Amino acid sequence: MIAEIYFCKGLVLPAACLLTSFASMLPELSQKKRFVRQKFSRVTRRYDLVNTLGSFGLDHWWRYRLVQKIGSYTGPILDLCAGTLTLAKEIVRQRPRPVIALDITLEMLAYGKFRLASHPATSFIFLVQGDAENLPFPKEIFSAVTVAFGIRNLPHPDRCFTEVFRVLKPGGKFVILEFSRPKTPIFASLYRFYLFHFMPLLGGSLTGDREAYEYLARSIESFPSPREICYSLEAAGFREVNFENLTFGVVSIYQASKI
Ligand SMILES: C[S@@+](CC[C@H](N)C(=O)[O-])C[C@H]1O[C@@H](n2cnc3c(N)ncnc32)[C@H](O)[C@@H]1O
Repeated sequence: MIAEIYFCKGLVLPAACLLTSFASMLPELSQKKRFVRQKFSRVTRRYDLVNTLGSFGLDHWWRYRLVQKIGSYTGPILDLCAGTLTLAKEIVRQRPRPVIALDITLEMLAYGKFRLASHPATSFIFLVQGDAENLPFPKEIFSAVTVAFGIRNLPHPDRCFTEVFRVLKPGGKFVILEFSRPKTPIFASLYRFYLFHFMPLLGGSLTGDREAYEYLARSIESFPSPREICYSLEAAGFREVNFENLTFGVVSIYQASKI
């Protein structure tokens, strides 16, 4: 598997590059939270199946790589946009420790908990329904915060970054896994075709909600570049910010520290 690492220290980008720009055809920012919540509550039961089929199983490897970045942190760990708890389970699998799994969509958390009912990881995972942009926790209580495929769904990712900075202990780490856009021209065109045509077909036929997977493609297309994300993390107060591309740039893993 191919991985490239970029260090973002001291990045300076124009204000126009901040995270507030989203392409047309996406829900209005003021409607986005409601839209996203509605979509995830509709696709809940088949969400993981579509992920695994659509990524040829790579999604599990990507989450494994994310959790490796928080290797020695003992917890408590906060997993944002936790969905059906796939990442929370991997965090506990790699090292048993308390994980607070927060998501805005109750159906996703409830289905995840139901699936893990007899799994040994379940006693380490605590559920919170909440908003990643307005965390219901006091400051400096988590040793690490993770989020997989969640940032792209937030109307204001920069608000989430500020909140994560607040709840992290000094010395804590924030690790993000998110879709990116491959740069190699031929692969980028194939990937784009796959994303805009095959994924809505696959996701639509398995979940009955084609629009949710059209939204997926558009949200990846309009997501800020990795360097813009690094800039926003630094603006929120994080240091030692860097990102790593995996699978020819289909996804990126970002790391940021609270010094
Ligand atoms: C693509 S899923 C990712 C789930 C999981 N992290 C994974 O790796 O499969 C995105 C999740 O983000 C949640 N979400 C969207 N907006 C949110 C918000 N403002 N606060 C918390 N969770 C949110 C959705 O409900 C959904 O479960």
